[in-house]
Amino acid sequence: MIEKTLPIVLITHTLPKEWITPLEERCKIFFGPTDATELDPTLIDLLPQAEGLFTLLTIPVTEMVLRKSPKLLVVSNMAVGVDNIDVKACTLRKIPVGNTPGVLTESTADLTMALLLSIARNISSASMDAREGRWKTWAPSGWMGMELKGSTLGIIGMGKIGKAVTRRAIGFGMKILFSDPETRNEINAIQIPLDELLKNSDIISLHTPLTEDTRGMINQSTLSMMKPSAILINSARGPLIDTPALVEALVKHKIAAAALDVTDPEPLPPAHPLYGLPNCLIVPHIGSATQYTRRKMAELACNNLLAGLDGKRLPYCVNPEVYSLFDK
Ligand code: DGY
Repeated sequence: MIEKTLPIVLITHTLPKEWITPLEERCKIFFGPTDATELDPTLIDLLPQAEGLFTLLTIPVTEMVLRKSPKLLVVSNMAVGVDNIDVKACTLRKIPVGNTPGVLTESTADLTMALLLSIARNISSASMDAREGRWKTWAPSGWMGMELKGSTLGIIGMGKIGKAVTRRAIGFGMKILFSDPETRNEINAIQIPLDELLKNSDIISLHTPLTEDTRGMINQSTLSMMKPSAILINSARGPLIDTPALVEALVKHKIAAAALDVTDPEPLPPAHPLYGLPNCLIVPHIGSATQYTRRKMAELACNNLLAGLDGKRLPYCVNPEVYSLFDK
């Protein structure tokens, strides 16, 4: 009997074994290190033989990577965002790219609310003050935060996560603005132009994908339109914000505060000026970090990868035009 050789699959990080069980019998897997921030050299050497590439969002899949991977049948990203992947270059090579939409909506919306509540009510700095002996009495005018009921939340990017945040914020009595022109308003939110949203929101939360159009959309000019009392939340992608412009706006109190789950660069180096600002709360890209969500993301990513290896349509494909290219 001729033994069928298993396709070679590169997984850019070492993942918990139980997350990738469906791949184990079907592929010969090579892992990168747990904390990889770029494609590991051992995996780069294997690219010429690889049929599947399973990536996390920190790993750039560039033209150079694709050029070294002539056998590649599928790129499966364990993330909904695919800005780390040169999707156009994949499409030109007829390589389908998979992502994991839907399963991280609720956990990311929860984390956004956690950031919003923490920064609006000074949780992080108040907790530090308590621990470090600055809690002298019940301070009638100390640790004052923002009253959420009646405040205005501007959502930039009214997709699945933006809507999930909206549902939660409505529960807190907030008024919701959004600016996406094409979103059907099936939620209780007011659609207005972006400039108006920036001027009128007490809190602005970013939920738009990172593209060439949205990169740096929060910059000196857009920050200057916000209220001096405004809070900016980012749980989408770091490069949506021009980081030096944000540092300046926070230092000069052009806006009141920011809470970031994502940064540019990522990870943010320990000496970065943002860490020194008391009005900036930073967490390390944990929007989808719940057991349920991360397992679901891995499950979807495995399904996409296996479908690609089998020459079937990926259940979640960001460049479905590859299939019409195949048909030609
Ligand atoms: C994604 O999937 O794009 C998220 O950023 C992961 O948390």
